[in-house]
Amino acid sequence: MASGERLSFLLRQARLDDIDAVYAVERECFRDPYPPELLRLLLLLPGVFLVVVHEDKVIGYVAVVVRNNMGHVFSVAVVERFRRRGIGRALLKEAIDALRRRGIKDFRLEVRESNHAAQQLYRSLGFKEEGKIPGYYSDGEAALVMKLSLP
Ligand SMILES: CC(C)(COP(=O)(O)OP(=O)(O)OC[C@H]1O[C@@H](n2cnc3c(N)ncnc32)[C@H](O)[C@@H]1OP(=O)(O)O)[C@@H](O)C(=O)NCCC(=O)NCCS
Repeated sequence: MASGERLSFLLRQARLDDIDAVYAVERECFRDPYPPELLRLLLLLPGVFLVVVHEDKVIGYVAVVVRNNMGHVFSVAVVERFRRRGIGRALLKEAIDALRRRGIKDFRLEVRESNHAAQQLYRSLGFKEEGKIPGYYSDGEAALVMKLSLP
């Protein structure tokens, strides 16, 4: 796809039969992908799990789990070919808006210290850095903790 070309995509709730495709996105986007069993479990937990579909293919997803009245951004990913077109932001915004309508105002996430693209995306949505957890990831990298509080 030529850069700058208009892209049509659809955001919708994830279903059980999306999990294989979501796992394929995971494998492409992360060196330590979540296993399909965990992705299936996410469908059952309180929160929001959305996929983004382009030409009948899942090209990204977001999962936000709600616990103790707080939304925890568990994961967000967009396959490389479709990045920098506003899809990651659209996914997160839709998930946060949906939870805000259910009364959830506080959100939190962890992100690799080296993952500047994701940090920039989160900042663009109002998330602020609120601390660091050394050795959070299995390879020893630290996580930044970022939080968003909506009115
Ligand atoms: C992070 C990720 C989901 C962003 O998806 P995306 O669809 O490319 O994001 P968007 O196009 O909506 O970008 C929104 C904003 O985020 C920031 N951003 C996104 N990618 C960036 C990059 N590579 N470098 C710097 N800023 C970036 C920019 O501020 C961008 O706004 P702009 O394009 O108007 O400048 C995608 O890069 C990805 O899947 N990465 C691998 C998985 C991952 O790291 N997930 C997060 C785990 S915590």
